[in-house]
Amino acid sequence: MGSTIEQAWWKEAVVYQVYPLSFQDSNGDGIGDLPGIISRLDYLKMLGINVIWLSPIFPSPNDDNGYDISDYQAIMAEFGTMADFDRLLEEAHARGIRILLDLVLNHTSDEHPWFQESRQSRDNPKSDWYIWRDGKAGGPPNNWESIFSGSAWRYYPERDQYCLHLFSARQPDLNWENPEVREALYAMIRWWLDKGVDGFRIDAITHIRKVPGMPDLPNPKGLSVVPSSAGHRNVEGIQEYVADLCTNTFARYKDVMTVGEAAGVDIHDAPNWVAADQQKFNMIFQFEQLKLWGSDVDADLDLPALKKTLTRWQKGLEGQGWNALFVENHDIARIVSTWGDAENYWRESATAIAALYFLMQGTPFIYQGQELGMTNFPFERLDQFDDVAVQNFAAARLEEGWTEAEILDHIRNSARDNARTPMQWDNTANGGFTDGEPWLPTNPNYKTLNAARQARDPDSILNFYRELIRLRAASPALMHGTYDLVLEDHPQVYAYTRTLDNEQFLVVSNLSGEVADISACEVALTDAEQLLGNQGDNGEQLTLRPWEARVLSCSS
Ligand code: NOJ
Repeated sequence: MGSTIEQAWWKEAVVYQVYPLSFQDSNGDGIGDLPGIISRLDYLKMLGINVIWLSPIFPSPNDDNGYDISDYQAIMAEFGTMADFDRLLEEAHARGIRILLDLVLNHTSDEHPWFQESRQSRDNPKSDWYIWRDGKAGGPPNNWESIFSGSAWRYYPERDQYCLHLFSARQPDLNWENPEVREALYAMIRWWLDKGVDGFRIDAITHIRKVPGMPDLPNPKGLSVVPSSAGHRNVEGIQEYVADLCTNTFARYKDVMTVGEAAGVDIHDAPNWVAADQQKFNMIFQFEQLKLWGSDVDADLDLPALKKTLTRWQKGLEGQGWNALFVENHDIARIVSTWGDAENYWRESATAIAALYFLMQGTPFIYQGQELGMTNFPFERLDQFDDVAVQNFAAARLEEGWTEAEILDHIRNSARDNARTPMQWDNTANGGFTDGEPWLPTNPNYKTLNAARQARDPDSILNFYRELIRLRAASPALMHGTYDLVLEDHPQVYAYTRTLDNEQFLVVSNLSGEVADISACEVALTDAEQLLGNQGDNGEQLTLRPWEARVLSCSS
């Protein structure tokens, strides 16, 4: 008898994240836009993805590149109009591609009319929509620091009070304790669902509750840490808000896909967020696999820790929830430049990492340009960075006496701007992203590293991703099968099986620049058939070349 599979469209999907600012400009202003995205839908169809997650497309002063929203129900002028959005939705749907929006519910921009009203006085109708407190001893109400450096409080003379901002000073936190705030957000979400969007990625959702009394807390330093996190990250009672959100929005609609950004959630807590019987989110992005927000990141991959972490999530959710699989997004450096070896084994390491994460149990996400093996930007000066997190970090460190060179060394390989440079379409000026001056410089390697060139090359990273997507879509075992780690203690190799009924696959990636012996593999290799490899098939079953990845069918 075959296993029962809990099917859902979002489990079988492959999601592609578009960072609209940097994807495709259509009007020469140097900023990507919605007509630009529409013009690239056929590329995405060719790649084989069937869902697009759009980073925020709403009006915003762009202090944090759209994650500071000033109107939830309109389109940022630089990106186009609501008519452009409607056309994007229609054209994507016509190609069998669904659209997820980015929901930023923890905070708004300080230019949002809600905040403009709230800051006026202590007794206006929205006075309690944000988190206001009196100062203490001539300073802020507590010692909490912003995730983007500096105090988490900003003083407003109009109220003679401080307002909390966990992110930039221009992103004040909404007061989720106020039911009117929650209802206003839910009404907005339902409005987008009524319009026909297919789901949401939910930003910073683990921060919406703050501990009662907001006491002073430790503030460790560095871009990769979350200061005062015990006060506002996944704190007790947050599930009341999450349940309230889901019941009043997604649960009222059919087939909505939801993925929450869940810093601070571990595997013991994960079922509260994603277990099927909880009816909350479909999946979450966990933060344990990567040192996110990182500037003090050690670029060397800790393979034993990676195996433990990913296996803990795979086995921990087995049978009760679903994983979101990712190695890149707009907040982390390019994976081939960190885990991989962009200098010596660029193509091999990009594809070995691809095979490693993509065929686990869960829904794979690809960040724009990852499918080309786009690399980190060769930053040489602090003024080349755009990110508010880097600017605040640099200002704070300069004040402490660090030199510019020390700061650069600290952030060069991990800053978020590495992932935000324009998409590299071809070898024309600016990689074909814009006819104008791009808002962030194009990586100079666009002349050789671009989509047009890789589309022509059967051995390219792009074509490897296409093969991965095709293989997964054709196999219930690769989508739904059980995950088991093999070669657990191997120092160079990440290997696992996916099994469903009589079908079994082995995915094996050498994550080193040396030949790896895999003769100790618990799975019989000699009769296995290679379905996909990043270095051809040399018929040699018991060793892997540097950064070699293979997907084998082991079913007899
Ligand atoms: C997480 C987003 O991914 C990031 O880009 C943003 O800066 C913060 N949340 C604040 O919204």
